[in-house]
Amino acid sequence: MSKTLKIDSTIRCDVLIVGAGGAGLRCAAEILERRPGCRIIALTKVPHPQKSHTSTAQGGLAAVDPKDPSDKNLFHMFDTWKGSDCTADQNVIKKISEASWEQIVWLENRGMHFSRDHEGRLLKRTFGGHTIRFGESPAYRAVFEADRTGKGINDTCWGETIKRGICFMNQTIATELLFNGNRCVGSIVFKQKEGSFVRILSRATVFATGGIGQVFKVTTNCRQNTGDGLAVALRAGFPIMDPEAIQFHPTGIVGPGILASETLRSVGGILRNRHMEGFMERYAPKMKDLAPRDMVARAIETEIREGRGILNPDHRIEHVWIDLRHLPHSVHEEQIPEVRGFFQKYMNIDPKTQLCPVRPSQHYHMGGIPTNEFGEVQTAFQETVPGFFAIGECASASFHGFNRLGSNSILELITMGKYAGERVLNYMEDADTDLPDEPAEATFSQFSRYVENRGRENIGKIREEMKSLMTENVGVFRNEEKIVRAIEGLADLKKRAGNIPLSSESLIMNQELVERWELDNLLDLSMVIAHASLNRRESRGAHFREDFPERKDAFNHHTLASMTEFGKVNLGKRSVNQCIFEAKEKFYEKFGIIERRY
Ligand code: FUM
Repeated sequence: MSKTLKIDSTIRCDVLIVGAGGAGLRCAAEILERRPGCRIIALTKVPHPQKSHTSTAQGGLAAVDPKDPSDKNLFHMFDTWKGSDCTADQNVIKKISEASWEQIVWLENRGMHFSRDHEGRLLKRTFGGHTIRFGESPAYRAVFEADRTGKGINDTCWGETIKRGICFMNQTIATELLFNGNRCVGSIVFKQKEGSFVRILSRATVFATGGIGQVFKVTTNCRQNTGDGLAVALRAGFPIMDPEAIQFHPTGIVGPGILASETLRSVGGILRNRHMEGFMERYAPKMKDLAPRDMVARAIETEIREGRGILNPDHRIEHVWIDLRHLPHSVHEEQIPEVRGFFQKYMNIDPKTQLCPVRPSQHYHMGGIPTNEFGEVQTAFQETVPGFFAIGECASASFHGFNRLGSNSILELITMGKYAGERVLNYMEDADTDLPDEPAEATFSQFSRYVENRGRENIGKIREEMKSLMTENVGVFRNEEKIVRAIEGLADLKKRAGNIPLSSESLIMNQELVERWELDNLLDLSMVIAHASLNRRESRGAHFREDFPERKDAFNHHTLASMTEFGKVNLGKRSVNQCIFEAKEKFYEKFGIIERRY
């Protein structure tokens, strides 16, 4: 079979962007605004860039309004640092927080419809862990477009790029990075519709491939979030930073796991157990329902474990309630219309009059391809890789450390998109593109295997088993016994995956072939996540070890995990940048290794 796989064509461009969600598009927009005529190709696995996962982001975008007398960037930086459980990089926190308002203005000037009050002022809402004066009271710093903020961002950036001549390749995946020496010069891509492999040679390559949600059984993530970019980088020998740092959003709609935005709690929704007790007070006496997500997710799981959950008769899943019945009609209509629609559509529930069932759902990966604060990818030795950039959820700079605050992700993706765009332009000043020596070897051997494999296994079954294994053993609560079970189970699943026959050997529009590739991506990442979770014998942010429930100073560092062959995971460290603390300016002590109480 491998003889029949061939490169159908070679395309040259200035910049190849893999992933056309908010980060990739914002990066492209920056480049095209600064350098009109720059030849950018953006790939998306889905049928259209507007179907990117960014479009599903609901709640808002954190940014300190310079005209707000009560808020300051310093407070936002502190909240992000504390929220991260002291594992975010302070150079990145500073860079992103200080640029945040410019990004709101950028979006507004390009037509984004942020929600406003009757006098035309931008409306703002609060999210868990965002405070003013170092924890004194909630900060109202997230601007939003009702509860469909991500859609506004994705559409605005898409419009900017399309009008400036970007070239999109839809339903196309990047399977292998190409190098000339240590310089990244593009990628092999597979065009699903044509069933053809194309070599794209680019002066710079930007990965913006999004999250890994499909590793888990219940996730708020779209179907396409299979961690492809991370897996391709891993296979090229790059490490993944903090793979064990996985966020479970407290309120997924029971059953499908669809996001029920934190906005629900921001506007006054209350989590209740089977006794109708507003239980968050017991876990976070001050912030209650608006404590950071890792804490609320653990509180909900604890309520359920201790018998205070409610069994959903349709899904046979235990959950807690979110009570929205007391909220004014105008809040339901104007601030949470989308989520209300989801409850009506998927659960036949009217949140105005009925309690809504929710349970934690995997939501975000704080880890990713390690980069510096400009989105330049770094090796295990923290050297930058010329020509290779990563931004958005697939990357880790790291702004979020071990727990991301709500509304900080779209801030991050939009800001890092801009910074990476600037950096790409600088880099291209002196980069030329030479043909790499060995084109597509890895891709061809991988895809030939998929087509040639015989046996009685089935992609869907293995994928479901993997999701259950990861959810049960490397989920909200972890311990050594469970993680080891996951590692053993993954090894078995990987072996079984070698016995998956495809129903068709055709390359054209063969969805099963792409799913087979995605399965390998998911298995590879799961293995790395499990190993990093096993190694981190402490609890920090969203990584909670029942057998090591305290945070330990010995682990005040990032994990760098690489995998040479399946199951052989090498673990290294990257130190956490504490430049704000080290600068010893006013309030610097707030940026030390602080206690995390809410
Ligand atoms: O809950 C939400 O609306 C999600 C926001 C976020 O993840 O930042």
